[in-house]
Amino acid sequence: MIGRLNHVAIAVKDIQAAAAVYRDTLGADISAAEPQPDHGVTTVFINLPNTKIELLEPLGEGSPITKFLERNADGGIHHVCYEVDDIIAARDKLISEGARILSDGEPKIGAHGKPVLFLHPKDFNGVLTELEQA
Ligand code: CO
Repeated sequence: MIGRLNHVAIAVKDIQAAAAVYRDTLGADISAAEPQPDHGVTTVFINLPNTKIELLEPLGEGSPITKFLERNADGGIHHVCYEVDDIIAARDKLISEGARILSDGEPKIGAHGKPVLFLHPKDFNGVLTELEQA
């Protein structure tokens, strides 16, 4: 069911400093920082030949990554995102297998303008897992 690894998301406190590490130390191709007020984060994408790294910095009050950064002061891997062909079919299969879908179970438009869902980390070895319709 799952296809390509679309991205690995890393939560950071200072996205400009983190982006500079990828650009200057690691020599990667990075995007400009983009505020995503609907998602409570600012994003920078690191474009790798086979996938992307998504840097996330909290934006505004009640950002979904604030608590994560309180527990992980140096930042850390926040979630992984796999592509699926049909997000509704994927959701229904996961529910039938007993997996829990976060929030109301309806796909939302994610940071790339495509429908996404998040799956409960307790059902996936402690990893918050995002599905994105390819
Ligand atoms: Co993501």
